[in-house]
Amino acid sequence: MQDTSANIVHWFRDAAPYINRHREKTFVVYFSGEAIDSAGFDNLIHDLAILHALGIRLVLVHGARPQIERRIRLEEITPWFAHGLRITDDRSLNPVIEAVGRLRVIIEARLSLSLANTPMSGSRIRVCSGNFITARPLGVRNGIDFHHTGEVRRVQTDAIEAQLASGQCVLLSPLGYSPTGEVFNLSAEDVATRTAIALGADKLILMNDRALPDGFPSQLTPAQIDELLLDHSPSGMLAKHLQNAREAIEAGVQRCHVIDHERDGSLLLELFTRDGAGTLVSAEAFEDIRQATINDVGGILELIEPLERDGLLVRRSREQLELEIDHFTVIQRDGKIIACAALYPYPEEKAAEIACVAVHPEYRQDRRGERLVEYLEKAARLQRLKYLFVLSTQTMHWFMEQGYRPGSLDDLPLERAALYNYQRQSKIFIKHL
Ligand SMILES: CC(C)(COP(=O)(O)OP(=O)(O)OC[C@H]1O[C@@H](n2cnc3c(N)ncnc32)[C@H](O)[C@@H]1OP(=O)(O)O)[C@@H](O)C(=O)NCCC(=O)NCCS
Repeated sequence: MQDTSANIVHWFRDAAPYINRHREKTFVVYFSGEAIDSAGFDNLIHDLAILHALGIRLVLVHGARPQIERRIRLEEITPWFAHGLRITDDRSLNPVIEAVGRLRVIIEARLSLSLANTPMSGSRIRVCSGNFITARPLGVRNGIDFHHTGEVRRVQTDAIEAQLASGQCVLLSPLGYSPTGEVFNLSAEDVATRTAIALGADKLILMNDRALPDGFPSQLTPAQIDELLLDHSPSGMLAKHLQNAREAIEAGVQRCHVIDHERDGSLLLELFTRDGAGTLVSAEAFEDIRQATINDVGGILELIEPLERDGLLVRRSREQLELEIDHFTVIQRDGKIIACAALYPYPEEKAAEIACVAVHPEYRQDRRGERLVEYLEKAARLQRLKYLFVLSTQTMHWFMEQGYRPGSLDDLPLERAALYNYQRQSKIFIKHL
């Protein structure tokens, strides 16, 4: 019992920075028709309700493929596909509208649930659906007429923004309307992607129907996606989602997440835990965070020398740096070292010192320092260390913001305490892992 309470408290505290970071941000979340059919759909709705309650501005986009498929077969219409898209002819259009309309109502109803004794208790989500997507016909391609299958022509961002600003959650379906008053069947993933781009969303979240393959990267850049698509040809839907994510990132969406809807709670794990549960696609990972090698010595020296001159960092000779290079972690951007930090373990005390944290002045205030420290903390946890300490003369408050608390010489391993420089008078900070 005590263990469970401690876990809850621990989890809550760990999640707090993410809760603060996500508040008032705009997330576009796509989930498929298969997800709606699945046993876990109620849990997904509960998790979306939690995001809404935490002040995240939500645009939900639902798919409808299996529901449309069933509805069309009921009418004894043979479904046609070309280039991976359904051809929506005159006969299929009505079943498509009925299937999508029905789903929209079902999702709105689920989001309205606020029964006591359910995770939705007390939630009051106002959902808004409407003619937010202007569509145009795909037309005739390679001699194939797509009839009422269309593509997104414009997203009515002002109207969506107005709903989000008034605290509503926006629900989009894979249907769009043309200025001629016609209805078009759209790809829901494309609706989500184009909407995220048009809104300049903070995140596009694409929920995949299958578990990501074992060992699938937890972070990708657009260039890595291209390589992956070429070399490993992932399954159809995953490939589509990766392409959507790449398109969104290249058009300025900050981050895209591809996650598996079947894993219970994957959305919450991805958004509120350090290790996540899916794959994050972002442009900035072309900044590689990694362990330093001997080839980085020149770049690190270039970065830290000005800071050493200003007395912010303790002086290190090239020889010393070469000897200690294995302790260093660097962030490299386009071949240049723009940040570094070092971790010096004291295995007997199950402790380690964080030192030499430096970010190039042109790249500060973009959470690189925080990422470096998080990276070192993760490495320290893997080594089963119990606490980290840092000695600082001018960056005390910054370390306090990273969760470090003032300590004293007594907190240092004896070996390190013996080397304390009384002239420098650095302050000591500790973080228990
Ligand atoms: C400290 C340092 C690593 C932070 O790097 P960063 O990538 O800018 O860090 P983050 O983006 O994660 O954090 C930036 C925030 O910390 C604040 N900050 C930076 N230095 C600070 C300091 N000395 N004291 C208090 N806050 C500080 C910034 O003002 C910014 O806050 P804001 O966005 O509210 O203005 C970087 O400023 C640096 O290289 N400083 C010189 C070297 C140094 O002092 N290293 C520590 C010795 S161990």
